[in-house]
Amino acid sequence: MCSIIGFVSSKQASPSIVQGLRRMEYRGYDSAGIAVLEGKKIHVRKGVGKVAEVNNMLGMDELPGYVAVGHTRWATHGGVTEKNAHPHLSSSGKLAIVHNGIVDNYRVLKESLLKEGFSFRSETDSEVIANLLEKAFAETRSIEESMMRVVTQIDGKYAFVAIFDDGTLAAARFHEPLIIGIGENGYYVASDVLGFAGVTDKVVYVDNGEFAAIDSEGISIFDFQGNPVPHGVTRVAEEFGVIGKGKYVHFTLKEIFEQPQTIAMAAKLTESELKEVSRLLTEASRVYVLGCGTSYHAALLGCRLLSEYTQVNATPVLASEAKFFPTKYDSKTVLIALSQSGETADVLEAVEIGLEKGAKVVSLVNVATSTLARISTLSIGLRCGPEIGVAATKSFTSQLATFYAIASHLSGGRVPSDLGGVSKGISELLVKQTHLREVARRMKGASDIYVLGTGPHYCVALEGALKIKELAYVHAEALPGGELKHGPLALLDPSVYVIVVNPTDATYVDMLASAHEAKSRGAKIIGISDKPSDVYDEWVGLPKLDPSLLPLVEVVPFQALAYYLAVERNADPDYPRNLAKSVTVK
Ligand code: AGP
Repeated sequence: MCSIIGFVSSKQASPSIVQGLRRMEYRGYDSAGIAVLEGKKIHVRKGVGKVAEVNNMLGMDELPGYVAVGHTRWATHGGVTEKNAHPHLSSSGKLAIVHNGIVDNYRVLKESLLKEGFSFRSETDSEVIANLLEKAFAETRSIEESMMRVVTQIDGKYAFVAIFDDGTLAAARFHEPLIIGIGENGYYVASDVLGFAGVTDKVVYVDNGEFAAIDSEGISIFDFQGNPVPHGVTRVAEEFGVIGKGKYVHFTLKEIFEQPQTIAMAAKLTESELKEVSRLLTEASRVYVLGCGTSYHAALLGCRLLSEYTQVNATPVLASEAKFFPTKYDSKTVLIALSQSGETADVLEAVEIGLEKGAKVVSLVNVATSTLARISTLSIGLRCGPEIGVAATKSFTSQLATFYAIASHLSGGRVPSDLGGVSKGISELLVKQTHLREVARRMKGASDIYVLGTGPHYCVALEGALKIKELAYVHAEALPGGELKHGPLALLDPSVYVIVVNPTDATYVDMLASAHEAKSRGAKIIGISDKPSDVYDEWVGLPKLDPSLLPLVEVVPFQALAYYLAVERNADPDYPRNLAKSVTVK
């Protein structure tokens, strides 16, 4: 939700902090800020807007000083205002903090700090951390002791970095990500390796329930009881260095266009991954597949593939509902957890419940350094490179491609494993993007869009509708085609668009009937199909493929259409309003 970063450097720290914030901005982009230590004084510059806007306004990257912290915010407690933006200074201004997560018991803590004379400038929960640290430090004169006291006082899930006026950074992690980067010019600590990508790939993991003290001399890590924890240095994938937009105007467009390659990469599981996932799934008595948002839509399709072509019967579970779902977890249960970020709180919570009951966890996750990847019994990387656009695009098709590889292996090839034709089909579709842009231009005034699909294509319809909602801010609703006549037909009139996912497979005839039903109520019909029809006002052609592979390509016109609708409606496709890429709070 928010991104946090700190840097203890041998050179001016602020340009690297601003650069890191820009790269992690996908995590939250309501407001941004920086605190830099110069001599014994901590200077704070912060404001509402994206990092580039705040930086242009305030010159965050001009601040002198060698030690700094920075933040991008996705508001949870307190409105989007300058005073609620981070960093937050303690009462005396002797330390400042940046925080990601929620301090559940902040009201009680704030009241008691107020009684003791501490002052507060914001409406946030975060500010209590600054004053608790100040109080503890005044009493103990030890940064380690102060950190131990604070982490035992605050409830909730959090990561924070504090900057002290002696040049030390202190950072704690409890169920929110935090990773240390060792660069040539100093030490970074950030929510994501993207915070220091391109500078170093040498990292130290801070585990849950640990805090670190970092100064120019080095790093010390402790558990929350204050015991020193030995730490090793790991190298993270070089691909994290490739994070520019290249020739594209937006990350989202670039990521849509990367799919012919990323699908092929995702489908290449190693022999040992295939062997291990097959063993876990065939030995399991129950398999649940879970995720949120786009990852849940991939979970729905993954379950269908496993249940249709293999002996594995899998049940899809929406991770945010998992606590209330009548799951039966035991040591013979396997959870397949899908997540681009590997940090989604709802997914982690569902997985932790399973792990506590002895279930095994197979994760399909893009961020190899994430919490989910690290707590899984087996983690299979999506290998699609950083996905910066807030809307998931290439990670969705990579999740599907991974499922195809697994289902193909388990079914002895009943599902095709060669996705060469799919890559080619997607490339062909994307060549026709000017047509999709024209369709988007004609649709831009629509207030309601219904997306119909049947069988596996309903899962694609769900994902298509989500893309339209989050990128273009247009109400879009997915329906199984046959459900139209059971009520929603009452909503159709000439102002409504209906998009039908209608390949010429077993679902074709039924879906064509639904398209006619919608057309005769005046709705405009957009057909996504490998066959034209008079019923379509607009026809978006699909390549001819093995029917089992169709969902992999059908989603691409939706991604492009939603992207162009956003552009036509002057929305920022990379950073949709009110959203953040990884939802790390409940
Ligand atoms: C997708 O476009 C959304 N931004 C969102 O639904 C996302 O898929 C969901 O929050 C899950 O994220 P994850 O894959 O990182 O767990």
